[in-house]
Amino acid sequence: MTTAASTRPAALPIGIIGCGNIFPAYLKTLSRCRRVRIVAIADANADLAASRAAEHGLTALSIDDLLASDAQIILNLTPPQAHHAVGLRVLNAGKHFFTEKPLAATFEQGLELVELARARGLRVGCAPDTFLGAAGQALRALVDAGTVGAIRHGTAQFMNHGPDHWHPNPAFFYQPGGGPLHDVGVYYLTHLVHHLGPVASLTSTSHTTHNPRTVPLGARAGEQLPVAVPTHVVTQLAFASGAHLVQTSSFDVWRHTHTPMELYGDDGTLLGADPNQFGGTVRHNRQTGEFERAPGGRPYTTNSRGIGLIDMALALQEGRPHRCSAEMALHVLEVMDRALDAGRTGQRISLTTRCERPAPLAGKLF
Ligand SMILES: NC(=O)c1ccc[n+]([C@@H]2O[C@H](COP(=O)([O-])OP(=O)(O)OC[C@H]3O[C@@H](n4cnc5c(N)ncnc54)[C@H](O)[C@@H]3O)[C@@H](O)[C@H]2O)c1
Repeated sequence: MTTAASTRPAALPIGIIGCGNIFPAYLKTLSRCRRVRIVAIADANADLAASRAAEHGLTALSIDDLLASDAQIILNLTPPQAHHAVGLRVLNAGKHFFTEKPLAATFEQGLELVELARARGLRVGCAPDTFLGAAGQALRALVDAGTVGAIRHGTAQFMNHGPDHWHPNPAFFYQPGGGPLHDVGVYYLTHLVHHLGPVASLTSTSHTTHNPRTVPLGARAGEQLPVAVPTHVVTQLAFASGAHLVQTSSFDVWRHTHTPMELYGDDGTLLGADPNQFGGTVRHNRQTGEFERAPGGRPYTTNSRGIGLIDMALALQEGRPHRCSAEMALHVLEVMDRALDAGRTGQRISLTTRCERPAPLAGKLF
């Protein structure tokens, strides 16, 4: 006789490389899911890995030993500038690779990772996974239901004063692979591609407002950070669907009052929540009518970083595509890199990549 428990696949073994700032958020989500188990963790800073392991009852290994373990997926939580090198090691060790965003520091590096994974029959998945949250899914449902008709225009606005005053190691945010577009604009773009499909072409303006940048507040106040990327980028995105949106990504703005995301359709307006969060209020109106809230009741209203990785683990076991796909991450990376190119040259640039919209999430993953 078989029971539900005996037919359920064994928990999928996962290893983690990178035990810094974002590590605890992932651990919280992964520890709630019985369909995955953490084999071991590793970090270039072995002392940090050992102390994280002791704190959370995990095993710390060297990176080589982790790559030789029975882990099937390696979760990469290193800074963007290390994603390419870590990804090559993981894929060459025959493991599936799920990485924090962006996929790599440059499109060319991201493409190499995706092509290597294809050649080796391995999966690549990439954050952000916030579009799987309650607010992202509520907005997607409104788009798909045609609540405001065809989406023609819109805005996506990320503006703050950078991570200098809260992150313990802020230097990497101002190097290629960082900056307001690759670090936070990536959430907005991923949500937009999830809602509307791929971008066909773009134009952009960009500025590096201060170089070096003086940390304004906090424990590192007065420290000078070299800046190798634009810190204010305004991009005009022409989607393959025909929609035209303006995206602003800035580390140069102290405060503003814009809505994070607005989508304008033939019959009304959709107002999205912060794409860097899982929950939040989503509203819509028709023509001149009042705004009303989208129906609630969806899962993942609070920080659930890691559900994209869990979706990939379940997808592997179930033989279906995972939602935080390599193709979407590579497309979003190309959009971001080309937005910086367009800011330098003033030219309109056509994208070479396309991707499918990920399947909507009907309910809880596990
Ligand atoms: N901190 C956040 O709030 C946050 C939020 C969302 C996403 N992220 C993303 O998570 C990733 C990590 O960010 P973080 O804030 O945790 O950075 P962090 O600097 O706090 O930690 C990164 C860790 O990676 C280790 N590391 C660096 N290079 C390595 C290598 N080659 N091999 C092994 N280990 C290496 C470092 O020793 C460090 O412990 C980035 O891609 C970032 O964009 C961070």
